[in-house]
Amino acid sequence: MQTAILVVVAYLIGSITTAVLVARALRLPDPRSLGSGNPGATNVLRMAGKKAAALTLLGDLLKGAIPVWLARGLGLDGWDLAAVALAAFLGHLFPVFFGFRGGKGVATGLGVYLALSVPLALALAAVWLTVALLFRISSLAALSAAVSAPLLSHWLLPGAPYLTLAMVLALLLLWRHQGNIQRILAGTEKRIGEKA
Ligand code: G3P
Repeated sequence: MQTAILVVVAYLIGSITTAVLVARALRLPDPRSLGSGNPGATNVLRMAGKKAAALTLLGDLLKGAIPVWLARGLGLDGWDLAAVALAAFLGHLFPVFFGFRGGKGVATGLGVYLALSVPLALALAAVWLTVALLFRISSLAALSAAVSAPLLSHWLLPGAPYLTLAMVLALLLLWRHQGNIQRILAGTEKRIGEKA
C-alpha cells in the first residue's frame, strides 16, 4: 500500500513540467511551441538563455530525485524503489497537469539516478559532459549517457531492479529522441545554445 501511494506521489511530482512553469514565470512563450518543442533545459536555453535553462534543469533534477529520496527515507528498496523512480520519470514524459505533453526525461532521469546512487549519477554526468564538450550536441550527450546507464549501473548500482530500471529508462529516452536521432544522422541537429 505504501509503495502504491509513493508511486502515485512520484508520478504527480514528475508531472510538474518545470520548463513550462519557468516560461510562465518569466513571461516567455511555451517551450512546447518553440525550437525543438521539448519542455527541457536544452530548448529553454535556446529560446530564453542560461538563467531560465538553469532553473529548468534544477527543477527537473529535483522532481526526479525528491520522490526517490522520500521513498528511500521510508525504507523502500529493490523493485519498490525502482517503481517509484520509474513513476517520477513517466510523470515527466506524460504529465497529468500539462495535457500529457511532457519532455524527454534527461534531467529527471539524472535526478532519479542521483537519489539512487551518487557515483552512478556522477559517472553519467561525466559521460554527458564529455560528449557535450566533444560534439556540442545535447541530445547526443544525453543518448550516450542513457545507453551507458545499464552498463554503469551493473557496477555502481547492482541488482536486477536497478538494471531493469536503467534499461527501461534507456529505451524510453531513445524513443523520445527519435527526431533528434534523425537530425543527428542528417547533420541538422542544433548545437548547444544555438538558436532555433
Ligand atoms: O534534454 C533533452 C535533449 O536531449 C534534447 O533536447 O531540445 O534538443 O530536443 P532538444
